[in-house]
Amino acid sequence: MRQNLLPFLQRIPGHRVVACVDPDRSLAAELASLAGGVVHAESVEALDLETVDAAVLAVPPEPSYVLTRYLVEHGVDCFVEKPAGPSTAALQDLDKVVHNTGRHVQVGFNFRYAETLQRLHELSRDVRATPCSVTIDFYSRHPSAPQWGVDTTLEAWIRHNGVHALDLARWFVPSPVVQVDAHAITGDADRFQGTVFLRHDDGSLSTLRMGNHVRRFLVGVTVQGMDGSRYSAPSLERVTLDLSEGLPFGQELHSTRNLDHGWTRSGFGPELEAFLDACRRKPAGHPVNGNGDGHSPTWEAPTVADALAASKLCDQTMDELHATGGSGFGSLTDPVPASAEVG
Ligand SMILES: NC(=O)c1ccc[n+]([C@@H]2O[C@H](COP(=O)([O-])OP(=O)(O)OC[C@H]3O[C@@H](n4cnc5c(N)ncnc54)[C@H](O)[C@@H]3O)[C@@H](O)[C@H]2O)c1
Repeated sequence: MRQNLLPFLQRIPGHRVVACVDPDRSLAAELASLAGGVVHAESVEALDLETVDAAVLAVPPEPSYVLTRYLVEHGVDCFVEKPAGPSTAALQDLDKVVHNTGRHVQVGFNFRYAETLQRLHELSRDVRATPCSVTIDFYSRHPSAPQWGVDTTLEAWIRHNGVHALDLARWFVPSPVVQVDAHAITGDADRFQGTVFLRHDDGSLSTLRMGNHVRRFLVGVTVQGMDGSRYSAPSLERVTLDLSEGLPFGQELHSTRNLDHGWTRSGFGPELEAFLDACRRKPAGHPVNGNGDGHSPTWEAPTVADALAASKLCDQTMDELHATGGSGFGSLTDPVPASAEVG
């Protein structure tokens, strides 16, 4: 909240922060003073919700679920950080409640709003209209310990960070996922790298390469079409057309300006802007779509239904890893010899 959301929120006109809440009163007070000396409280129950139109939540998964449920039932629209709930069952319940209240709830899958990935999404639209292959690299050092009630580092990482990569796969290939295959290499107990393969109903394949074995954060996406094209965003900085009709090409199609203090790079600013726009525009009870002004995305903002779908993919990934003792591989009865042993 302090590093990513509040600073961007403060750059968006047309709203006023009225209260900051954290059970740690000193943190609530600190944030309230950063927000311009507004009201602070230890719980949302202590607030007069008549003064609140919308809430931005960046709290652990269990309170994300409990608080979002409470707030929508009291008529407040919510932006809630991913994963938005501690389990698939909780998200199933939240999805139902949100639907019944008709409130607008947007989930913080910020990479959908990162300018470079949006450009890649647009540029690859035609090749993604037929079965294609999408590779997503998602590396982050954290979590590097069990977190928020999840017992192992690997599972905490998948549920709290890998969920971004699973959401990106669903965004780039909207066709339903029909198969999941997961493999992991674990180093010491707290470091791993792994690969998750998703087969989609239209025949597309998503390959997710993930892990916390790295030194710094990295996101990259590549889209390969059946026409021999390969569009690539190796980082959040640029998009290139590596291959065209199967031949090396190497044309740079997009690069970030980096003169905007990170506004477009991470997506945090644009996603909050989209949330506030939607709250202002939306008559209660109507779902929000692109606003048709030519600037906002033509896809819908990520919802609790998206968080629920991503959570099911996390469950499936963990099931696959557990079923094969963590490696994801079924063993051959007759192992193929290593190359040095051949002959
Ligand atoms: N989109 C992203 O890239 C991104 C990045 C970081 C974190 N997150 C998400 O943001 C959320 C918070 O992560 P964090 O790293 O900031 O955690 P954190 O532990 O640093 O902060 C969470 C805060 O929530 C407060 N809190 C707990 N229960 C509360 C309640 N009932 N009411 C109000 N406040 C409460 C805690 O006291 C703490 O100050 C998580 O869901 C995480 O997955 C998303």
